[in-house]
Amino acid sequence: MNHDVILYLAPLKGTTEIIFRNIYAKYFQGIDIAIATFVPLNHHKSKEKVRKWDIPPASKQKIKTIPQFLGRNLKDLAHLIKWIQYYGYDELNWNLGCPVSKIVKKGRGCGQLEKPQEIEDFLDAIFDNFEIKLSIKTRLGMSHPDEVFKLIEIYNKYPLKELIVHPRIGKQLYSGSVYYDYFEEVLKLSKNPMVYNGDIKTREDFLKIRERFPKVKKIMIGRGVLKDPFLPEKIKGIYTETIPDFYRFKAFHDELSSTLQPIFREEDEFVGKMKEYWRSFAYLFEDRNATFKYVARSKNQKEFESRVEEVLT
Ligand SMILES: Cc1cc2nc3c(=O)[nH]c(=O)nc-3n(C[C@H](O)[C@H](O)[C@H](O)COP(=O)(O)O)c2cc1C
Repeated sequence: MNHDVILYLAPLKGTTEIIFRNIYAKYFQGIDIAIATFVPLNHHKSKEKVRKWDIPPASKQKIKTIPQFLGRNLKDLAHLIKWIQYYGYDELNWNLGCPVSKIVKKGRGCGQLEKPQEIEDFLDAIFDNFEIKLSIKTRLGMSHPDEVFKLIEIYNKYPLKELIVHPRIGKQLYSGSVYYDYFEEVLKLSKNPMVYNGDIKTREDFLKIRERFPKVKKIMIGRGVLKDPFLPEKIKGIYTETIPDFYRFKAFHDELSSTLQPIFREEDEFVGKMKEYWRSFAYLFEDRNATFKYVARSKNQKEFESRVEEVLT
């Protein structure tokens, strides 16, 4: 039993948005908190008169959710803070981990990690100007994990709600070795509470992290939840195999699919989105590659639906 662990659902843009989260919460237990996928602070560049953030009211979230922003425009941040406070949130997360090259090139996400002075200046401005709880989601650096030592000095100057660390560097994107030794160092140095994030795909992966970092009570999981939606329950020891898995998964899948379908104008786009989910869902099956290929070869919605029905019954 792991009742003392707090599990976070990681933000996965294009996948774990509110529709997914709310339907997930209806069928599965174990996730305590979610970080929403990022909203970019780029309204200052837009010609729109009315600034709207794609962040629904907190009361509509079935899992307690913390909004996340990317970028460092103070005016936009001021507006965003007003927006989220109006909608019932009291906390924000700053994305300093996104390694996507388009974003890095603009000096945002992970690209920001190469400019620690800018991070410090922005944190000064945030803590001088706003009353909001702030957490940071970071990597160890952009090009070398040693970058983290300068970063941690900066993060330590501020009373962050928490520091979520994915112990990779930006250049690795989402694969390659996780720097556990560096995470251990950061854990020793950090004055802020820490959350571990990265590569937990099974209960065994979780137990290894638990054993190595027993002080870390907060664990964030992203791709592992998509590949095995039962994983949080397995981690917390509340998963019972007497529940027919595929029946529950199918009910979840059907509701996700029927809720997403009307959002897409084109059938192709909807089927494309579902195939993206299936890239992960296929991990539930022993013959993962064959299952994914079978679903992914659907040419239209009707075929997709009948193939999924076949796979899930
Ligand atoms: C497709 C995709 C989209 C992501 N979107 C975000 C995002 O919006 N905000 C963020 O902080 N991290 C984002 N991440 C990073 C994840 O939150 C997480 O840090 C990473 O996947 C490692 O955790 P995992 O191994 O448990 O998945 C994304 C990752 C992927 C693969």
